[in-house]
Amino acid sequence: MTVRIGLIGCGVMGTDHAMIIGQQLHGAELAMVCDADAGRARVAAEQAGCARIEGDPLAVINAPSVDAVLIASPDQTHGPLTLACLAAGKPVLCEKPLSQAASECEAIVESEVKRGKRLVQVGFMRRFDPSYVEMRQAVLAGTIGRPLMLHCFHRNVAAPDWFTGQMAITNSAPHEFDIARFLLGGELVAVTAFQPALRREKGGVAPVFMVCETAAGQLVNIEINNNAGYGYDVRGEIVGERGAVSMAAPAGSTLDLHLSHSVAYAADWRPRFAEAYRRQNQAWVNGIASGTSAGSSAWDGLCATLVAEAAVQSLQTGQRTPIRIPVRPGLYDHS
Ligand SMILES: NC(=O)c1ccc[n+]([C@@H]2O[C@H](COP(=O)([O-])OP(=O)(O)OC[C@H]3O[C@@H](n4cnc5c(N)ncnc54)[C@H](O)[C@@H]3O)[C@@H](O)[C@H]2O)c1
Repeated sequence: MTVRIGLIGCGVMGTDHAMIIGQQLHGAELAMVCDADAGRARVAAEQAGCARIEGDPLAVINAPSVDAVLIASPDQTHGPLTLACLAAGKPVLCEKPLSQAASECEAIVESEVKRGKRLVQVGFMRRFDPSYVEMRQAVLAGTIGRPLMLHCFHRNVAAPDWFTGQMAITNSAPHEFDIARFLLGGELVAVTAFQPALRREKGGVAPVFMVCETAAGQLVNIEINNNAGYGYDVRGEIVGERGAVSMAAPAGSTLDLHLSHSVAYAADWRPRFAEAYRRQNQAWVNGIASGTSAGSSAWDGLCATLVAEAAVQSLQTGQRTPIRIPVRPGLYDHS
């Protein structure tokens, strides 16, 4: 079976997905691309070898020649377009976050539960990154004993002037919330968010520093630093009762020069997580072909957004904020 994919959104991430589908996946073809900007759609179609271009995302979702949909348009489009995929009964891989509004995520979960079948996968690709997978295996095997703490940091080179602490939480941090739930195998139930004081003349957004608590009493600290200046750098370390496991720099080589030993950083997420995106998309296609599901579910998307909403509230009030996790529907028992 060849899964015919319709891609919505051909910006930075969508063009990357187009190339992955067009050149790296088995059992899939890029049947149609769509962008509000026709020029971007054309470039992605040419690069990935796709013949059909559409301007209307709903026409892609409802096209008989499209078996499954990948949504890589901006965050505010994710909820309505995912709901449209569910209404059409089509599997969908939606880029993170599932929605920035928990109420929209809840509507998606409700719609999927009503259908009684998982059709939604959320693009939390870190679950497919070999480093995180190894760290998870170390936890499952009991190698480091019971996990007590997780240290996470997420650093980008620079953020635009209009980027805010709230955006760092709603757009960047959901990756950390999801991977924390994946690595520790439990829910985050409270969060406290802080920002260090920046020198006024420096400008730009200050890092956001969060402390999350899990239902099992573990602590997770998360630094989201969108103006780190030096490179794209994501790391994690789990500290257990007997030992610790941390991510090794995933570099192909190191450089010895001028009395120093160095590893190069990527400029953004695409090279760092290239293998994770490929594995995520292949798992999605394999799941469609075999009628199974993989990766983060709509439920996981909802949980990450609930943490983000609580963290935004905490940043505004300065208070520790509980996270209200509803009862998980049975459809997501193995999620
Ligand atoms: N998984 C990851 O690591 C990762 C990394 C980056 C971005 N993302 C997510 O991917 C999404 C896209 O991010 P990006 O950096 O590519 O943004 P982008 O701005 O580069 O691209 C978005 C594209 O969507 C198009 N678009 C806007 N509204 C549309 C609509 N209604 N229908 C069709 N096309 C529409 C825009 O014209 C643009 O080309 C975001 O939700 C972002 O959070 C995920």
